[in-house]
Amino acid sequence: MSIVKDLSLADKGNLKIEWAEKFMKVLERIRSRFREEKPLKGIKIGMALHLEAKTAVLVKTLVEGGAKVFITSCNPESTQDDVAAALTRWATVYAWRGETIDDYYQNLNRILDKEPDVIVDDGGDLIFMAHEREVSDKIIGATEETTTGVIRIKNMEREGKLKFPVIVVNNAKTKYLFDNRYGTGESTIFGILNATNLTLAGKTVVVCGYGWCGKGIALRARGMGAKVIVTEVDPIKALEAVMDGYEVMRLIDAVKKADFVITATGMIKVVRKEHFLAAKDGCIFANAGHFDVEVWKPDLESLSVSRKKTRYFGLPWNDYLVEEFTLKDGKKLYLIAKGRLVNLVAGQGHATEIMDLSFSLQALSIEYIVNNKGKLENKVYDVPKEIDEMVAKIKLESLGIKIDELTEEQRKYLESWII
Ligand code: NAI
Repeated sequence: MSIVKDLSLADKGNLKIEWAEKFMKVLERIRSRFREEKPLKGIKIGMALHLEAKTAVLVKTLVEGGAKVFITSCNPESTQDDVAAALTRWATVYAWRGETIDDYYQNLNRILDKEPDVIVDDGGDLIFMAHEREVSDKIIGATEETTTGVIRIKNMEREGKLKFPVIVVNNAKTKYLFDNRYGTGESTIFGILNATNLTLAGKTVVVCGYGWCGKGIALRARGMGAKVIVTEVDPIKALEAVMDGYEVMRLIDAVKKADFVITATGMIKVVRKEHFLAAKDGCIFANAGHFDVEVWKPDLESLSVSRKKTRYFGLPWNDYLVEEFTLKDGKKLYLIAKGRLVNLVAGQGHATEIMDLSFSLQALSIEYIVNNKGKLENKVYDVPKEIDEMVAKIKLESLGIKIDELTEEQRKYLESWII
């Protein structure tokens, strides 16, 4: 039995899913093959993904492929309750917006209680918890969707703790070059504008982290007319940001000029006490990284003499997306979406066409795990190159774009070394 907030929202959720389906052309192609071939027949899939419309299209694809799906969210605040209600028609769903931390872990455990054959995770919590329980022996393999999860799983592998193979979908080119960069770039800006109803034009936006997500956010913020400052800890990424034309400096210096500070690092305590103290009055903080640890809330709370929810928004799941913190000297600082992924809590997540790529990789990687049952070691695997290229090819075809092919002579030229 599914546990969702309100089943009567299902029709509305279904409209959102139908809309997403129209624009997920690669997944549509995979789905029609899955419908014919049933490659996942008899397979139980346990999933923890942000539960919104695009995810529902992935779930439907897996179900058409013959799988039984059990799904919860990988974040207590990102579920869209109408989509969760609609999804109960195809899968067992345990998810609602505004789960407590206890609810969140209980839901992950509910997924594991079903003894899934394959796990699909975003952030590594479900994979980690599967290792804490006896179910890990029965798992054929897992996929991981995001950078933070990949870092955790590689740490498990390094320490010899991994009990089943994991394909790191995040590290496929058709994932991070598009989802992390353009997806996060667009949807983070959308989430911030949605939450604040303020302009970025002429404002100073500080982007912490110039990885794939940070690059996208900086690019899109600049496109909106903002003056963008980048902060980094990696000298090569910092240099890249300089050459891309951004100002680069330490956060402690940048925060004094910032109207907005956006974190996208996957790192803990990026914005902390000294930065809140140095920030100018009215500075707005938001996070696009996976966990709500980048803008360090305990420091903001302990520096504040009062706090209030502000900017009434009136979303069915979230009336107030911005919180105001008043410091001892009267300075006011603002935090969007409780420091959780701003693009999913204050927005609608990545654009549909972007998630088409990421979730096509997921569907094909799950099929690969099932087809290679017993052949993979308890290691971290990249998405096979053929799958990565196939997703790009189908996407280009769906756009009606043809590209050149190497001639035989060119192919030989590539392989030769004699002058
Ligand atoms: P990445 O590894 O490409 O980039 C992270 C960058 O942050 C690195 O260049 C690193 O040097 C830098 N960094 C680390 N500590 C820092 C600090 N204290 N100050 C400044 N820079 C620092 O990772 P990617 O793919 O950009 O992901 C970043 C985070 O966003 C992860 O938590 C990931 O899981 C999450 N993510 C969120 C998405 C969303 O929808 N909001 C989508 C995809 C990823």
